Amino acid sequence: MNNNELYVSLDIGTSNIKVIVGEMSDESLNIIGVGNVPSEGLKKGSIVDIDETVHSIKKAFEQAERMIGFPLRHAIVGVNGNYINIQDTNGVVAVSSENKEIHVEDVRRVMEAAQVVSIPPEQLIVDVIPRQFIVDGRGDITDPKKMLGVRLEVEGSLITGSKTILHNLLRCVERAGIEIMDICLQPLAAGSVALSKDEKNLGVALIDIGGGSTTVAVFENGHLLATRVVPLGGENITKDLSIGLRTSTDEAERVKKQFGHAFYEEASEEEAFEVAVIGTDQKQTFTQREVADIIEARLEEIFLFVAEELRNMGIKELPGGFVLTGGQAGMPGVLSLAQDVLQNNVRVASPNYIGVREPQYMTGVGLIQFAYRNAKIQGRKVGFKMPAEAVQEVAASHQKEVQQRPKPKSKQQQAQAEKKPSKMKKIFNFFWE
Ligand SMILES: Nc1ncnc2c1ncn2[C@@H]1O[C@H](COP(=O)(O)OP(=O)(O)OP(=O)(O)O)[C@@H](O)[C@H]1O
Ligand SMILES: [Mg+2]
Repeated sequence: MNNNELYVSLDIGTSNIKVIVGEMSDESLNIIGVGNVPSEGLKKGSIVDIDETVHSIKKAFEQAERMIGFPLRHAIVGVNGNYINIQDTNGVVAVSSENKEIHVEDVRRVMEAAQVVSIPPEQLIVDVIPRQFIVDGRGDITDPKKMLGVRLEVEGSLITGSKTILHNLLRCVERAGIEIMDICLQPLAAGSVALSKDEKNLGVALIDIGGGSTTVAVFENGHLLATRVVPLGGENITKDLSIGLRTSTDEAERVKKQFGHAFYEEASEEEAFEVAVIGTDQKQTFTQREVADIIEARLEEIFLFVAEELRNMGIKELPGGFVLTGGQAGMPGVLSLAQDVLQNNVRVASPNYIGVREPQYMTGVGLIQFAYRNAKIQGRKVGFKMPAEAVQEVAASHQKEVQQRPKPKSKQQQAQAEKKPSKMKKIFNFFWE
């Protein structure tokens, strides 16, 4: 580990709160820590209890801190697609330097100019996403810094959200003692890693099947067109299983994750397992196929609602198909069912980084990548340096390990070393998949 900048993302979900700590070196991301705890205080993606949410955020940070061995105080915070509005915007400024070279300050000013738009009083600006910069009439520029020109324009999307929802969210984060470095729209962040350039150009729908909600985000001509939220997700499936199998929610969640299958035809008739019956000490045996029957019904309903939302948005064709992500997309059979219901190309996307190779981490990883790229263009700071004492401590523990390596250890020393793994070792073990 060296002294590169660290980036921390916070995904406050209905089922789980996820904290991801990443280190960027040479434009590539290394994940060095993860916190993932059950989320209390949210329903269908919205905060319903501030204290419980704050408590859960703190717990998720503590978990990530234990893994990396030093405290975290900053985060890039994700905002879900609930009550989000996207509109076109643009801004123009004169380049300020005498030699007419465009500096980061000019980029910052033009981005600010693009935010001077009248929006309804109950709305708040979440972000401005540049589509293209234009220098003296020449467009399609992604980063105008260091170019020469007199007139700098930006065309992009202005993202606004409900003031009440955003205030509550940010308040929870601040109350948990975390400084907000950036706020990003989650589907946009997830899309920046989950989708290819081609898919986004052709027209693609990213479907995030979370715990309390399913978010549909449509990208066309390279940009996010709109988001819609279906208020159903993995928790509904767990609830259906709890009713259908007459068992507790916790047991239903375990069965779902361990044996669940989303496509009846592909589910096994042989694989059988015991489920505790609620209120008794009896157990009942079910097969994977029986469970798949219940899961498929609910997931099919979710996909039908997604298709309806797309029709409402006026989307007729999606040559780029569908990309599924979110925790519930990790279940076997989801892909087959989605292909069957949506009648288009479908794939499931998971982040391709050690330690977070599950679709539930797509948003968290996306938040880091997305905020990093935007901040670089606009000269903003969203990362931070690892505290000096932590760098020293990690380096010292590493050196100690190297020094100790050739010496044969007494049994007692060995037992002690096994009991107390070093920070480096802990991180290393985590990546050992
Ligand atoms: N391997 C798995 N198999 C089946 N279901 C899974 C698996 N992993 C996670 N889930 C389910 O995914 C859901 C949580 O997903 P995720 O973490 O993406 O949601 P969230 O972000 O907390 O919620 P939301 O986005 O709706 O606010 C839970 O219902 C959980 O049971
Ligand atoms: Mg989510």
